[in-house]
Amino acid sequence: MALDLSLIMFLQAIWFILPAYAANGLPVLFGGGPPIDFGKTLNEKRIFGDGKTIRGFIGGVISGTLVGLTLFYVGPILNQSIPESQGLIELSYNPIVALLISVGALIGDLVGSFIKRRLNLKRGAPAPVLDQITFLVFAFLFALLIIRPIPLEYVIFLIPLTLGLHLFTNFISWLIGIKKVPY
Ligand code: CTP
Ligand code: MG
Repeated sequence: MALDLSLIMFLQAIWFILPAYAANGLPVLFGGGPPIDFGKTLNEKRIFGDGKTIRGFIGGVISGTLVGLTLFYVGPILNQSIPESQGLIELSYNPIVALLISVGALIGDLVGSFIKRRLNLKRGAPAPVLDQITFLVFAFLFALLIIRPIPLEYVIFLIPLTLGLHLFTNFISWLIGIKKVPY
């Protein structure tokens, strides 16, 4: 059975971005402690705001790198267990790429907050697209330090997927009552 080529690309794109998703999504569990900007302001507006903490940043980088390490170990096992994929999918992960992507995701997240503060948006105020995409763009940029070129298909698949996933998780969070609005 031949796996559809675009399906393979899609799966590989998700595989590729998993460390960035972990790096971007898990800091909420580690947050607390001093903010990265130590409360400092620029033109009377916070540089990043209280939502960006040192612990969150470090926790995010460690989480993303650990996810990459897991993929590094699990990839070869999956390659053997899906014979149909032989030659078409070669799952593996370079842990250095995972580290870079994670740092990129967290820096992108900071850039997003920096822009939000310049626009007078309070910590936690929704900024559609900016909230979801800056981490992804910077994850790509940092990955480019090692992977060149990044397949264009990855970018084409991952931008709408990431936007959709955010809407979905927000909706679920609203359903179970941890968010006030469903978007
Ligand atoms: N977080 C953190 N450190 C980071 C990133 C996130 O501690 N570097 C934690 C914070 O508790 C933050 C939560 O994860 O409130 C959710 O992250 P995010 O939505 O990115 O931050 P917001 O609070 O929405 O702040 P902003 O408006 O600046 O995006
Ligand atoms: Mg937010």
